[in-house]
Amino acid sequence: MKDGKTLSRWPVFVALVMLLVFTVIFLVEFAASTGAELERPTPAALDAAAYLDEVLPLLAEADPERGAALVEKYNCIACHRMGAVNDIAPPFAGLAERAALRRPPLRPEAYVYESITHPTAYVVDGFSPAMPQNYPDLLTGRDLGDIIAYLLSPDAY
Ligand code: HEC
Repeated sequence: MKDGKTLSRWPVFVALVMLLVFTVIFLVEFAASTGAELERPTPAALDAAAYLDEVLPLLAEADPERGAALVEKYNCIACHRMGAVNDIAPPFAGLAERAALRRPPLRPEAYVYESITHPTAYVVDGFSPAMPQNYPDLLTGRDLGDIIAYLLSPDAY
């Protein structure tokens, strides 16, 4: 009698264990998806609205001064040498004007966003596709917004 009862509770027990397992998996995935890490964005079709949904919120409260410190921290300036023209990478100086002309109809902020998150989508004439591709894994959304704000400011060099 006792054994029979224990046996009949098995399905309930299994269901509870499975519920627990799925809850844990869900919570872990949820925590991972809402972390500070930036989602790796997918390349957008080239139109005037491309990337704006992603980049405008990043720029809303961006701090270009922090962005200036970040291009040093992430060593962007190893290739993009401050103020200097070289054949490794284009200088950041004057990017605010050039960004609008690089890849029309992309807006300047969309172009700079794409350059950092999808460096191979467009390669500046005269340079090789040497830009590291793992910045979306390293930068938070806030970092990216601050860097873009700095690069589009007149202070970029
Ligand atoms: C290993 C060298 C290297 C590093 C480090 C590097 N880049 Fe670049 N970057 C390049 C090269 C080469 C190009 C030009 C070719 C291309 O368009 O991909 C480029 C292009 C760009 C452009 C487009 C510039 C233009 O004039 O159109 C932007 C914006 C940019 N990089 C931002 C960054 C930022 C921000 C970082 C740091 C978080 C960074 N890069 C780090 C090599 C580098």
